[in-house]
Amino acid sequence: MDYSYEYFKISADYVKSIVPYEPEIGIILGSGLGNFATEIENPIIIDYKDIPNFLVSTVQSHAGKLIFGELEGKKIVCMAGRFHFYEGYDFEQLVIPIRLFKLIGVKKTILTNAAGAVNTDYNVGDIMIVKDHIKLNGASPLCGKNIEEFGPRFFDVTDMYTKSLREVALKCAEGSGLATHEGVYMFFTGPQFETPAEIRAARILGADAVGMSTVTEALTAAHCSMPLLALSVMTNMAAGVLDCKLSDEEVGIAAAKIADRFASYVKKIIANI
Ligand code: HPA
Repeated sequence: MDYSYEYFKISADYVKSIVPYEPEIGIILGSGLGNFATEIENPIIIDYKDIPNFLVSTVQSHAGKLIFGELEGKKIVCMAGRFHFYEGYDFEQLVIPIRLFKLIGVKKTILTNAAGAVNTDYNVGDIMIVKDHIKLNGASPLCGKNIEEFGPRFFDVTDMYTKSLREVALKCAEGSGLATHEGVYMFFTGPQFETPAEIRAARILGADAVGMSTVTEALTAAHCSMPLLALSVMTNMAAGVLDCKLSDEEVGIAAAKIADRFASYVKKIIANI
């Protein structure tokens, strides 16, 4: 489907008719990292299903709500529940959340996700600040007719994960008790976890972690020149690293274990960007 600028504007106009301010920071929460949303002050909550031309979350660990409010004295909007290719959406549909952010005035975006650690120096519970990504699977979300109001047809992604935001994230990790790395995130479509051979290939290609989200949102942010920070929580060692099977349950347990410390960390970042 070829979307028009008007298509995205209809969603934004609906949201703007409810929220009387422009949020400065937009955050998309990854699997099991949704606790964070309960800390937002003076919340205004909008169900995805009420927003025209928006999508609905089909994954149980993703709430499906847009939450506006304040945190650390800043106006923010938080997407509790994201959309993934494996749910059956086309890559081109996955531009919708970030374009909504852009149109309602968001100036900086933070993406969070649960990921499998490919780098064997990483441990479960570590944080990876994404410095670059590898996406060899599937189409670009920016395929189709280009919408010039958002950005140019061809665009640079060299500095997609904004260096100054990564520096703040590294600094905020000091004294947090969280082991933090800067690394490369590799996208796989899911919903199956990767094979051990895919993980060995990912490691050879330079990946430090793998996951099923984030890159489409990052590319959409780059297209519309939105400064971006992406944080991966290592919820498991990737397939074949340890002699065990992977499960969504294990991912959820690991995410829940770190959720509070991770929320404090993200709050500190919000205060400092
Ligand atoms: N692979 C892909 N996505 C994931 C993983 C993984 O190992 N862990 C959490 N999300």
